[in-house]
Amino acid sequence: MNSLKIKEIIKIKKENQYVKTIFFKYDENIKPGQFFMIWIPNVDEIPMSVSYIKRNIAAITFRDVGDATNKLFNFKIGDKIGIRGPYGNGFKLNREKIIFIGGGTGIATLAPAIENAYKKKFNIKIIIGFKNKNELFFDKRFGKLINNLYISTNDGSIGYHGNVTDLAKEIIKDEDCLIITCGPEIMMKKLFELFNTYQFQASLERYMKCAVGICGQCCVGHGLRVCLEGPVFDATMLKNIKDFGKYKRNESGNIKYF
Ligand SMILES: Cc1cc2nc3c(=O)[nH]c(=O)nc-3n(C[C@H](O)[C@H](O)[C@H](O)COP(=O)(O)OP(=O)(O)OC[C@H]3O[C@@H](n4cnc5c(N)ncnc54)[C@H](O)[C@@H]3O)c2cc1C
Ligand code: FES
Repeated sequence: MNSLKIKEIIKIKKENQYVKTIFFKYDENIKPGQFFMIWIPNVDEIPMSVSYIKRNIAAITFRDVGDATNKLFNFKIGDKIGIRGPYGNGFKLNREKIIFIGGGTGIATLAPAIENAYKKKFNIKIIIGFKNKNELFFDKRFGKLINNLYISTNDGSIGYHGNVTDLAKEIIKDEDCLIITCGPEIMMKKLFELFNTYQFQASLERYMKCAVGICGQCCVGHGLRVCLEGPVFDATMLKNIKDFGKYKRNESGNIKYF
């Protein structure tokens, strides 16, 4: 798991103008909500959630935001990347009624958990939010599974006009469900405050270096390592993470407020 494996890209899917999925063969057992460290030669090594798990094929889905993701974005089939992992705890699908709420690329992290819950015949709803219709992705992938797919866009170009938290307020009435979320941390914090009596799991992102719990770069709250104790935290843990929704640390350890 900790040794770097060099993998050839076997398939690439352009999800929209800004987001791509890269597929590769991967034999290890992977849980939804876990992540890999992806080494992009001569650029960087970055954390990426697993967005697709099927037998010995896995994938990552990413947005072109900087040096490493831009290089990845321009890779072709047959190009090679280095992979360590999978790391982290993953989601616990411990309720039969689950509402998945995703914002932007956070949706990639939720996808394998959604497919698992569907296979288990759980009662699921999916609420996903984007800035506008050009940013939409995975809507067809989820739409094939269930009818309870709700979409919001900030500009109203498709689906509900407004943000995903307002849409969630309109849809979620049943306290007996588990909410699982991934997206911008301010969005997840708002959901946590709105649904504070619910079972709740959120996947957090922090700057990572070792990804195996040694360097302390990704610590939140009282020394919880996002790479090891996370990236998924439940309501009990989130209540004690004072930085949740407030700030994160950059590569030098300096605080950056959201
Ligand atoms: C557990 C986890 C899972 C993630 N899963 C996904 C995913 O599925 N899809 C996706 O598009 N993005 C995901 N990210 C975010 C992704 O790792 C960063 O966007 C990426 O590292 C940016 O690298 P860059 O060189 O392209 O951009 P840069 O210009 O280096 O940075 C752009 C932004 O990414 C942040 N970042 C850079 N390097 C790291 C790092 N080593 N660790 C964490 N954040 C970093 C920077 O602070 C900055 O905010 C995940 C992050 C974590 C921690
Ligand atoms: S990245 Fe080193 S402890 Fe988490």
